[in-house]
Amino acid sequence: MNRSKIAALLRSGEVGERVLVKGWVRTRRDSKGISFLEVNDGSSLKNLQVVLRNDLPAELHGELGTGCSVGITGELVASPGSGQRIELAAHAVELFGAADPSSYPLQKKGHSFEFLRTIPHLRMRTNSLGAVFRIRSVAAAAIHRFFQERGFHYIHTPIITASDCEGAGAMFQVTTLDLARVPTIEGKVDFARDFFGKSANLTVSGQLEAEAFACALSDVYTFGPTFRAENSNTPRHLAEFWMIEPEMAFYDLTDTMDLAESFLKSVVAEVLETCPDDVDFLDKWIDKALRQSLELVRGETFVRMSYEEAVKILLASGRTFEYPVGWGHDLQAEHERFLTEEHCKKPLILSGYPQELTAFYMRLNDDGRTVRAMDVLVPRIGEIIGGSQREERLDVLRERIIARGMPLEAYESYLDLRRFGTVPHSGFGLGFERLIMFLTGMLNIRDVVPYPRTPKSL
Ligand code: 4AD
Ligand code: MG
Repeated sequence: MNRSKIAALLRSGEVGERVLVKGWVRTRRDSKGISFLEVNDGSSLKNLQVVLRNDLPAELHGELGTGCSVGITGELVASPGSGQRIELAAHAVELFGAADPSSYPLQKKGHSFEFLRTIPHLRMRTNSLGAVFRIRSVAAAAIHRFFQERGFHYIHTPIITASDCEGAGAMFQVTTLDLARVPTIEGKVDFARDFFGKSANLTVSGQLEAEAFACALSDVYTFGPTFRAENSNTPRHLAEFWMIEPEMAFYDLTDTMDLAESFLKSVVAEVLETCPDDVDFLDKWIDKALRQSLELVRGETFVRMSYEEAVKILLASGRTFEYPVGWGHDLQAEHERFLTEEHCKKPLILSGYPQELTAFYMRLNDDGRTVRAMDVLVPRIGEIIGGSQREERLDVLRERIIARGMPLEAYESYLDLRRFGTVPHSGFGLGFERLIMFLTGMLNIRDVVPYPRTPKSL
């Protein structure tokens, strides 16, 4: 007999159907010679209730407990209990593997997320982490669908690179040099003797390569891992995270904001439609305002505001913030969250940041002070997307690279895009884990990525 997935049975299994299910026992309860098993196979949040009447074989009696893996054949029957339409009356049980109750860590219900982080290989067996990772998968598929349906091409940009896209220097070095005996030349590391013959690092963003592809294929996107060696031990920073970066030729900043807004709406809508049980569970147990905030993104038009206005609002708010507020100061999470959660009570797109706060590639406005950059802020998270129109003018771009003391020769191919058929173009980056935090109500980014990598923790 073929195995049935529990999600499909709960959705459309019919009374009288003979089925085989395989999964893990979440709980077992014995009452009056009958055993009730809650079996979960990861296909859905909901378990299938399995009823074993009288005839539980003696050798299984001690083994059939929380965490063990089983195959069960039987017949679907109408469930007298509330909460489920059907249950499985078992005819035969096969035990694949027992889980010793004295050492299996997921015995009791209600573990803290901190504890679950110490068992990343087991934590997805819990309801909340299972829900998170199903939503993560659906969101990834929704992202691809959004771009593919609009004629965007998926580009696999390199993970090992020699360029520093953000110019922020927070990069992990990649080397095969012997760290105990690093070769030097004139007092500096001799990278000529390294694997690539030059200094290499893990990418902080696929943007520069995506720009090259947009200047040929028009509309492209990346979806891959990125790495930042920022020493930020916060609930919203990872050293390894996934980023989605669309890059569009002939788009200005307004076109890009429009795209970012419809993109977020579309992904949120697909998750709401595809994962109603997981969203309900997280709404009940993790964040009681989850569904409401997802509906807000799906339904409401995002507010658009300049950085200058945002600074004025913060100054007039009467709040005391930890970090300084004023023209020329970067907005911190506390400021972003005030603006989106309390002031606007909606998603918010900020634009027109001061030139000196931003990356070298952002298009300079005619005022000479601000650039065509934008961030999308959402309640609970703050910045979820950062993007910009790119500087397409060769002379302006070259001057900005020089002014920042960056090595011009490292950016020659990037400058070539401005030498040969340059076009106005724009793009943005969505932090995938920030999106999953928003979609699930989870408060710590470590709990929405399979194996979190953060400072002093691997
Ligand atoms: O704002 P960022 O640094 O922008 C870029 O990297 C651009 N190259 C994007 C582009 O225009 N193509 O990062 C983009 C997003 C942020 O808004 C945030 O959601 C996420 O990436 N992000 C992080 N997520 C988790 N951990 C970190 N350390 C992150 N740093 C950025
Ligand atoms: Mg940013």
